Amino acid sequence: MNILPTERRSLIVLFGATGDLATRKLYPAMLKLYEKGNIREHFAVIGTSRHKIDDEKYREIVEKSVAKETSNKKMVSDFASHFYFVTHDVTNVSHYANLKDKSAELDKKYALGGNRVFYISMAPNFFGTVAKNLKTQHLLSENGGFNRLVIEKPFGRDFESAKQLNDELSAAFEENQIFRIDHYLGKEMIQNIEAIRFGNTIFEALWNNRYIDNIQVTLAENLGVEERAGYYDNSGALRDMVQNHIMQIVSLLAMEQPVAFKDTDIRQEKVKALRSLRVYNVAEASTNFVRGQYGGVGNSKEYRQEDGVPKDSNTETFVAGKLLFDNYRWSGTPFYIRTGKKLADKFTRVDVVFKKPLVDIFSFPQSGSTPLNANVLTIFIEPNQGFSLMVNAKNSEQGFHTEPVNLQFLEDSKRTKETPQPYERLIHDVLKGDGTNFASWPEVASAWKFVDQIRRVWDIQQPMFPNYIPGSMGPVSADELLARDHREWVYKLNK
Ligand code: BG6
Repeated sequence: MNILPTERRSLIVLFGATGDLATRKLYPAMLKLYEKGNIREHFAVIGTSRHKIDDEKYREIVEKSVAKETSNKKMVSDFASHFYFVTHDVTNVSHYANLKDKSAELDKKYALGGNRVFYISMAPNFFGTVAKNLKTQHLLSENGGFNRLVIEKPFGRDFESAKQLNDELSAAFEENQIFRIDHYLGKEMIQNIEAIRFGNTIFEALWNNRYIDNIQVTLAENLGVEERAGYYDNSGALRDMVQNHIMQIVSLLAMEQPVAFKDTDIRQEKVKALRSLRVYNVAEASTNFVRGQYGGVGNSKEYRQEDGVPKDSNTETFVAGKLLFDNYRWSGTPFYIRTGKKLADKFTRVDVVFKKPLVDIFSFPQSGSTPLNANVLTIFIEPNQGFSLMVNAKNSEQGFHTEPVNLQFLEDSKRTKETPQPYERLIHDVLKGDGTNFASWPEVASAWKFVDQIRRVWDIQQPMFPNYIPGSMGPVSADELLARDHREWVYKLNK
């Protein structure tokens, strides 16, 4: 058997093969893996959904979805020839027999070694059903190949429902076979957080409450809910962005150094960090978290006027909060987080604000000198990729005056464009069996327990919505949250 050294052998059974995620993200990501030789001769995809289409039609869908990735038509049609379609209703147990036969056939045809990835890209209420039926209908390979389950978000809507879902999955798959996607973990600069922290003495030595005043995480979006009102209105920003993406980022920033750079060790440290996050009581939740909903301005509709959103919706489209860790490293150093729709711009960044020097020997108020600034390490996640460090230096004028200067590294736009996209990285990780960039159950559980407390308080308090204008950085209360602590957001709009 000829196999490329880079190649991963596997069958991928994809549930939801004609859906939006598959066509927008998964097929283009797979094409990239094909192009790079991470999958090549020994891979096959069985796409399933309730549609009644044949292999030929399915391949057309696949080809169309990857058309803008390359001009190499031959490569695209070779790639698409590995895709097969089986019409399938996941709730109908008898349908799994077809899948089983097709899997066995393709396993043989492409010499896949019994390796199987089951990727569920469907509404979450089907996750448990599919996992159970895969096991009871004997779809799991039993001849020494691997079985891996990939689950998209959302993983529950609170701790109880997430636990129930997890129990259903665990009845069919072991924890190390379950890959819970959080696409933020596939982003280049999120993965870089560990490199910046643990690869640099100058940061890791200072990475604690003695030297860091506060850490700020901002995930800003300039779009509104667009076509997703049905989902979003039942979710809100707290569940949609905080419970998963933000909690993951925070755990990477807060964790201790793992024993080794491998999934089990990293997960262990992330879980420890999340477990020391203070779960708020009612009073703390009301003071330390604020929410917002966007209003309208000009042609920009207010949230309650969007298609599919109830006119009296109290769903939050913005969240800001203060997180406290009760551990030796972080006690007394808050993490401030914020995320929202229809904000000023689309970007993600982390600002690490160091403490100011205890004594400012350069302060001569009579001569108009300015006080020293805090050093700030900014990690630009998107759209720019890179980081900057703000330091104080003497300016070159007469006299002795300090001013802040920026040491900055940004990937150039060509490198940024070539950076593998999250789904390419994550699918590759699944094929390698590397769980580093996936959320483990104990992480998900801790994140829900934290978020549930905020939700409980919000569910009984009536918000004053709408309370921020599109194009701003959210409601005034988000600024007040920091002002109360005599702090401010590093990223502000220039008014
Ligand atoms: C998703 C949320 O998980 O992340 C969306 O459901 C959000 O509401 C999206 O828009 C943001 O992801 P990205 O990669 O565009 O920052």
